[in-house]
Amino acid sequence: MIPHSRPTIEADDIRAAVEVLQSRQLAQGGMVERFERGMAAHFGLSGGVAVTSGTAALEVALRAMGIGPGDDVILPSYVCAAPLLAIQRVGAIPRVVDIELDSFNIDPVAAQQAVTSKTKALIVPHLFGLPADLTALERLGLPIIEDCAQTLGATEQGRPVGSIGLMTVCSFYATKLLCAGEGGMVLSRDETLLEKARRLREYDETPSLYPSSTNLKLTELQAAIGLAQLGRLPTFLERRNALALDYYSRLNTIDLVPPHVPDGRTHSYYRFVVRLPNLAESVEELNAIIARFEGRGIHCRKPVFRALHHYLELDGFPSTEEAERTALSLPLFPALTDEETAQILVALQEEWP
Ligand SMILES: Cc1ncc(COP(=O)(O)O)c(C=O)c1O
Repeated sequence: MIPHSRPTIEADDIRAAVEVLQSRQLAQGGMVERFERGMAAHFGLSGGVAVTSGTAALEVALRAMGIGPGDDVILPSYVCAAPLLAIQRVGAIPRVVDIELDSFNIDPVAAQQAVTSKTKALIVPHLFGLPADLTALERLGLPIIEDCAQTLGATEQGRPVGSIGLMTVCSFYATKLLCAGEGGMVLSRDETLLEKARRLREYDETPSLYPSSTNLKLTELQAAIGLAQLGRLPTFLERRNALALDYYSRLNTIDLVPPHVPDGRTHSYYRFVVRLPNLAESVEELNAIIARFEGRGIHCRKPVFRALHHYLELDGFPSTEEAERTALSLPLFPALTDEETAQILVALQEEWP
């Protein structure tokens, strides 16, 4: 079976994990700080605060910014539930908006229409490896939390993704661009926000109590693996790009829409999400295609499990719903072999002759 995704675990990662185990310093050693400094340097930011997950990072970012009850936060509907849950957990109101179908990212016009006097921030996920239209979003004049869980190393108008917003969050979940099993990080160039994030992540040995503080600390083991992976990020991105180019060059005879990269942006190909525009109105047709690929030993996926407006029982998200009906994520990860890619391409040719 060709999996949809598979982490790249190599000798460096294993050595890093073993060294931590041999050191007997499993928590609160220097590895977490080194990983934080490494990630901050990657984005060109002044610091990072490592936490247990990307979801925790989103919540810490919102709390550090002082967002809570009575505040609105804008986010796109077409994303996993993590940003929605983080907003709800801090007691703020999520304002979900539609996406641009061709980029799968938040639609800046829809975001603008959702702004009210209560809007305190935008959570901007860069989906599938492609930066959102940050230039247009910045014009709204609101603080931006860049959600880089799915995108590292890409650029928007020449600017590195994750270096533009007030805060940036990352995820190091097993299938992400950098993996540590689980883990996340909040980054910023604002030292006051970073200090607040540090206080939210741990509860002990502080002169005064922060009511929202809890234990969200990353272990040394996770940080060591994350750091080892970070050193190989350029190689991972290179391989992802090469695989994507291979898909593009061989998909041009097939009647599907490959990922679109708008002018001024680059893609890091966390996912290779195609659209099958000729599907019927029901999502069942997409499910049937996924099952047929499964039968051929290829694990494809719907890229977003359930759009957020469904959870909130809202209507009026035509692009999100079209993406839900027609978007298919093909396997793409650095460890994917050329033979596996060839097998996927044969299956695609046979499905869409
Ligand atoms: C865009 C986005 N944001 C946030 C998260 C949450 O990250 P984690 O799974 O580490 O909590 C994910 C994870 O899948 C994600 O894709």
